[in-house]
Amino acid sequence: MDKVVELEGSRSLEGMIDIATEHHQAGRLEDAAILYRRVLDEKPRHVDANHLLGVIAYQQDRFDTAVELIGKALPDRPASDPIRVNLGRALIGAGRLSEGAEALWSGGYYDEAEEACREAIARTPEDHLLYILLSRILMDDDRPREAETVIYQAFRRVPERDASAGNDTLDLSEYNSATKAFTYSIDIVGTCNLRCPSCPVGNLSDIERPKGFMDVGLFEEIVKKIKSECQNETPNLWLFNWGEPFLHPKLAEIIRIAKAHALPVMLSSNMTTKLDFKEVIRAEPETIKISLSGMTQEVYGKTHARGNIETVKENMRKLRRYIDEFDAKTVVYVSYHMYRHNICDYGDAVVFANSLNFDLLPIVAFFQPLEKMVELVENELSDVDKTLVDLLIEHPLVGVIMSKRIADPAQDCGLRSNAMAINHDGSVALCCGVYQPANMLGVKFTDLPHQELQALKYEHDFCKTCYKSHLSWLPIPPHQPEQNGVTHERQKENLYRKFRQSRGQE
Ligand SMILES: C[S@@+](CC[C@H](N)C(=O)[O-])C[C@H]1O[C@@H](n2cnc3c(N)ncnc32)[C@H](O)[C@@H]1O
Ligand code: SF4
Ligand code: SF4
Repeated sequence: MDKVVELEGSRSLEGMIDIATEHHQAGRLEDAAILYRRVLDEKPRHVDANHLLGVIAYQQDRFDTAVELIGKALPDRPASDPIRVNLGRALIGAGRLSEGAEALWSGGYYDEAEEACREAIARTPEDHLLYILLSRILMDDDRPREAETVIYQAFRRVPERDASAGNDTLDLSEYNSATKAFTYSIDIVGTCNLRCPSCPVGNLSDIERPKGFMDVGLFEEIVKKIKSECQNETPNLWLFNWGEPFLHPKLAEIIRIAKAHALPVMLSSNMTTKLDFKEVIRAEPETIKISLSGMTQEVYGKTHARGNIETVKENMRKLRRYIDEFDAKTVVYVSYHMYRHNICDYGDAVVFANSLNFDLLPIVAFFQPLEKMVELVENELSDVDKTLVDLLIEHPLVGVIMSKRIADPAQDCGLRSNAMAINHDGSVALCCGVYQPANMLGVKFTDLPHQELQALKYEHDFCKTCYKSHLSWLPIPPHQPEQNGVTHERQKENLYRKFRQSRGQE
């Protein structure tokens, strides 16, 4: 107690904390507590004093007090802060297992997090959210097969939404996912130079599909038909679906045709093609999205298979030069596909994109097409596909679980009601999410009026399969409990911390 008394005259809070910590480390908990409290008398929100007084409460098995005090120290601290880890332990002590597990997971304490989560599951095995949390912990602990087992358990457990029960009060109207504008995805190129494993061009490459470039005359016919029958004045015109538009030797001409009919054009490109696209920029498409998944060949090549990152960078520089030269009003942005393996390159990608004055928007990478997603729901993916799924930040079944629990199957699918996918030969697909020939409508866009094309979609059997697998594009309110207080932002933050730790930077 001598030093406690000695400090009576000293008003330096940090000095008091130092002495208190000495007491604390030497096991003189009461002496330390007196000083921490004295600091809090002067500064009630003092982070260290709240945190360490909370740790003392934890050491004395006063878990609720520990949670309260450590919680006061937490606001505005990063997810991985040691304070959160101590909060996690206090929460577990207080019997709040899932919250504790989540906090420990954020700190990278996977064993403790797993133990708490499994205990919580043993107590309430019907709570599917606990399985989702456990799957996230196991994914980050590099145990994807175990994570997979757990996520399928969650999927089986969660009940389907039963709107017919009569007590259904969920109003989904404001979340209608169908965009108000109609979207036409026209695959002007029926193939791609890359083989991304998340895309059917890579993961269904053995499927026989017609390949080629859309004829310019056919494109003009399509555009005229769109103008004559589309319900919206300015539908979205996307010149891609499962192909690479920058491979088309007449892309500039195609853009000019669309613009001549007052249809704004959006392109999306891997930016790995060797064709000179000077004329394309001179034609001034409204939007170009650049798809990227890394900044080094090792990282990028994993998810943009056959792509060369140096070619991408060179093409991006060229794009900036052409835009400046023609004073083009084209909006360009980089879509960074976020995976587990490429968090490490994210910062470099932002710097590079910004150096060229392009925005970079991260998107959590997903797995396509719908036929593969049906296999995933049925747990029938090949090992090769599982290798890709293991790279995803979130197991795709989490979204499916959300849909199973909430989506109202009486609602119409937005990809069917408000979109049309047209292949390079003018034939029409059931929707932009399917790839296999069986899921094409077997007619040309220019042969049938809009309503008849729509009728063919509504008769198609694959939609039934898709609905049954909870994959259809239905309204779901944001911020669902599956997110469990954990948005993708937190998951990305956790992974970034893990990456820094692996480099000894944390
Ligand atoms: C199949 S690509 C075709 C266009 C072009 N080849 C490209 O990759 O940009 C259509 C869109 O899907 C996006 N995409 C492809 N793979 C993705 C993934 N794994 N996660 C998120 N978006 C992806 C691309 O960014 C692109 O805008
Ligand atoms: S670059 Fe685009 S179209 Fe090509 S394989 Fe990748 S995602 Fe598919
Ligand atoms: S229900 Fe599925 S297959 Fe049918 S249009 Fe919608 S997303 Fe496509």
